[in-house]
Amino acid sequence: MQNDTYKREYTREFVSRWDSLIGWDSRAEGENGFFERILRHHNCKQVADIAAGTGFHAIRLAHAGFEATASDGSEAMIRQTEQNAEDMDVALADAKVVDWRELHTAFGANKFDALVCLGNAFTHLFEEEARTKALDSMRTVLRPGGLLILDHRNYDKILDNGYSSKHKFYYVGNGVDARPAIIQDDLVKFEYSYPDGNKFHLSMFPLRRHYMQKLLDDAGFTSVATYGDFEQNFEPDEVDFFQQIAVKPRH
Ligand SMILES: C[S@@+](CC[C@H](N)C(=O)[O-])C[C@H]1O[C@@H](n2cnc3c(N)ncnc32)[C@H](O)[C@@H]1O
Repeated sequence: MQNDTYKREYTREFVSRWDSLIGWDSRAEGENGFFERILRHHNCKQVADIAAGTGFHAIRLAHAGFEATASDGSEAMIRQTEQNAEDMDVALADAKVVDWRELHTAFGANKFDALVCLGNAFTHLFEEEARTKALDSMRTVLRPGGLLILDHRNYDKILDNGYSSKHKFYYVGNGVDARPAIIQDDLVKFEYSYPDGNKFHLSMFPLRRHYMQKLLDDAGFTSVATYGDFEQNFEPDEVDFFQQIAVKPRH
């Protein structure tokens, strides 16, 4: 598997169906303002959604009063974000096609109060060197004291106990079934089946919780805090997703 496999997998057809997979209204209900609360608590104003997809978080954050930039490595995703922002009459500060490893080149250093990288996005990088490079670039574009909020599936549970899901927080669109077709230590391949019989696949590297924490530590972030399904106290074997929040040191 390659780090750029995602560019082939997010076909125009799949991208045009992404919104019915994630289900905007039910997803917003499941999150219940979690990200907005954390960003406000840390006094963040300029926020970049660097795995924007079709713009769910960038658009909601802009709507909530943040100065929100959207970027994504997939051109098709960014075009859909722009379309969705226009349809919803929301102004984004910027929308750009940018790979995570090139954020510093695209935006420059010390630009944002926070970055969000959500929807189990970081799992698309297959090589550790690429993950390290991406996290370095993320740290560079953050201001000192800035936040990186990154989430991922509970791969520990998937690898150790097999797949199960509460279908409550992510991928809660009507009638679309998401489940792994392949589960290996170095690859989890998800299959998304739509009611009309169409199927799409995404290849992912299964990030274990402690491994992700270590990557954040090694990349120079501090105060890494992990939530499980948006709760600070959680049963590691029961939650579907982890939200990891890390801080760029002030000095
Ligand atoms: C699972 S989707 C999540 C989209 C959105 N955050 C959501 O929750 O609906 C992952 C996104 O990450 C993007 N992505 C994957 N690898 C990337 C990379 N190396 N650089 C930038 N974006 C990348 C994909 O194009 C895709 O839009």
